Amino acid sequence: MELPFAESYKIKMVESLRRSTREQREQWIKEAGYNLFNLKSDYVFIDLLTDSGTGAMSDKQWAAMMEGDESYAGARSYYKLKESIKEITGFDYFLPTHQGRAAENVLFSSLVKEGDILPGNSHFDTTKGHIEFRKAIALDCTIEEAKDTTLELPFKGNMDLNKLESVLRQYPAEKIPCIVLTITNNTAGGQPVSMENIKGVSALAKKYGVKLLFDSARFAENAYFIKIREKGYAGKTIPEICREMFSHADFMTMSSKKDAIVNMGGFIAFRDEATWQGCQMYNIMYEGFITYGGMSGRDMSALAQGLKEGTDFDYLQTRISQVAYLASKLDEYGIPFQRPAGGHAIFVDAKKILTNVPKEQFVAQTLGIELYIEGGVRGVEIGTLLADRDPVTRENRFPSLELLRLAIPRRVYTNNHMDFIAAALKNVFDRRDSITSGYIIKKELPIMRHFTVELEKA
Ligand code: F0G
Repeated sequence: MELPFAESYKIKMVESLRRSTREQREQWIKEAGYNLFNLKSDYVFIDLLTDSGTGAMSDKQWAAMMEGDESYAGARSYYKLKESIKEITGFDYFLPTHQGRAAENVLFSSLVKEGDILPGNSHFDTTKGHIEFRKAIALDCTIEEAKDTTLELPFKGNMDLNKLESVLRQYPAEKIPCIVLTITNNTAGGQPVSMENIKGVSALAKKYGVKLLFDSARFAENAYFIKIREKGYAGKTIPEICREMFSHADFMTMSSKKDAIVNMGGFIAFRDEATWQGCQMYNIMYEGFITYGGMSGRDMSALAQGLKEGTDFDYLQTRISQVAYLASKLDEYGIPFQRPAGGHAIFVDAKKILTNVPKEQFVAQTLGIELYIEGGVRGVEIGTLLADRDPVTRENRFPSLELLRLAIPRRVYTNNHMDFIAAALKNVFDRRDSITSGYIIKKELPIMRHFTVELEKA
């Protein structure tokens, strides 16, 4: 008999989960203003709000924490992290930050000014927020195919090179501080970017004299997909593929809370000394001295170890197979989602399920609320709430997709949990036609409103 696939780790410490009743959940979500971010985590049974900072650290990472050096300047932990970053990315210079958006804040403070244009493949919301806050423009150049959730493409996160080139042709290089390539492309469904596309973007950047930034939160998952899906990479190791990917970038921002499997942390890494120096002042002002930048020594040590574990093939295979397993259950029940399954999450196609809910009433949010009430499973809306209002007209922006993201934390849940999630979603799916109305906004902030918005039933 062929041996089945099994996880590449075992469990050393557990945390209890709380069950609740449907009546309790109906009450709690109402009190939370129908915003899943406002729920106490104790009110959630399976938490798929994010894969960010929610992973389980390994015994080796916890051991590394005990060896953290808390010196203000020049800590051993900093040098350990520097070595790890160099080994995996090839970048010589780096600045630690407390998380990914802090890295964006520091880098963009140095590079981005009013009126600038930053083309990219579906900028993540904090990235877009930091660009628009500086009155610059985040121009989306993702391939059109990413908007069709039914298409099975191996690299659906790719940049459309024609769209990108027309932007580069239209604006002078001085107005484009960098191109932002997000690997994997979170917003489009955790979809990877191919090495061929990375090379194409890099060639255009060079042709037009523009820098290339990787938003690298899930770079290791991207490398895994390149290994298993792209011709010529099957025989290469994940670290080799990572080095090749990063060889095409000028700098990277990293939310270490994802692929480096730590609960907090981030960094910016640079090829060139001058850009690193240009960012130092902002790092000191916003984060901390350049050898700790918002991280304690122990956190830098855990991150140095996590970068190695996050780029281990067996770990990545376990992780991405679990996401694929959940996808196979949804397929069994006929539930539509962004195909193929992404690296860190399943993006359920809410518009195809709740066809009776008007688009003004937040379709994906409505599905998220129903899933929570059904089984205590918390996902997150990637749709009209997240898209914010247009910064100029203040009108709601209606993205082409209304998705409910079910992000899977790393090394946390078992496949029994995946079965539970799929069953809860199936129950909502089975009663989809009876859901005819959604929600309206009671209170919201001008930028990144989805975190704190309060809603009421329409
Ligand atoms: N870039 C990408 C692609 C991200 O997915 C995130 C965060 C960030 C940057 C910002 O990093 O949270 O450390 O400040 N994504 C989380 C998510 C929040 O749930 O997808 P951060």
